[in-house]
Amino acid sequence: MPLLDFDGDYGRTYDARIATLIPAYEAIFELAAAATAALQPLAQQALVVGAGTGTELPGLLAAMPQALFTLVEPSAQMRGFCQALIERVGASDRVTWGPDDLDALGPTCFDAVISHNVLHVLTPDAQERLLQQMAERVAPGGCLLLSSYSETEPPELELGLQIGVARFKALGMDPATIEAVMAARNSKVFSVNHQRLEAQLLQAGLEPPIQLVQALFNRLWLSRRCEGGATA
Ligand SMILES: C[S@@+](CC[C@H](N)C(=O)[O-])C[C@H]1O[C@@H](n2cnc3c(N)ncnc32)[C@H](O)[C@@H]1O
Repeated sequence: MPLLDFDGDYGRTYDARIATLIPAYEAIFELAAAATAALQPLAQQALVVGAGTGTELPGLLAAMPQALFTLVEPSAQMRGFCQALIERVGASDRVTWGPDDLDALGPTCFDAVISHNVLHVLTPDAQERLLQQMAERVAPGGCLLLSSYSETEPPELELGLQIGVARFKALGMDPATIEAVMAARNSKVFSVNHQRLEAQLLQAGLEPPIQLVQALFNRLWLSRRCEGGATA
């Protein structure tokens, strides 16, 4: 099965497989939602970029009970799963679909911008563009929550890779899939560099990212735009 084919088998089986692929997958959602509840309990507008099948949405909808949500998701198959979830949880009146490209969104800014597990499916250049587009959308006083695969430097890198493989085995992943997942590094999955992320966020006028979670190579960062901070 090709990895990261969101409109094919990978997308069709995404929900069944993703918690094995990403350590602390649900814990990261829980903490990101808690961060929005703490910082933006009265949020009116939230943007979720790369919503996928929508697993992060129920927690975010509850954390920001007054917010209207704009979702961006380029894969038709993933959008379909997400729409079904939105209807199941009775949130249709709080959610609208935005354009695939954030530049087409108009001048709106958001109290919270959330993007889980999207940056690492993009090449470093595309990561930088999307990051800049997301940062521009954070309103003064607002927050950006990002989770992504983000490797540590050697020598910890090698140790982390070993632990990652041992974890896949322990969770019952078959050897061919482990090989395919490991081969996807730097060809289909691109580590987000922490230093570059920080430099890009500062350049966009946001505060330095605070790392809220690290689970092996998966991280959750929070970055804020100060009250009165200019948006682009
Ligand atoms: C690994 S999934 C993450 C889905 C969900 N957020 C989660 O954490 O389970 C990555 C999602 O990002 C979407 N995506 C890919 N490129 C994107 C882009 N440039 N902007 C927004 N979403 C994108 C894919 O279609 C896919 O649904």
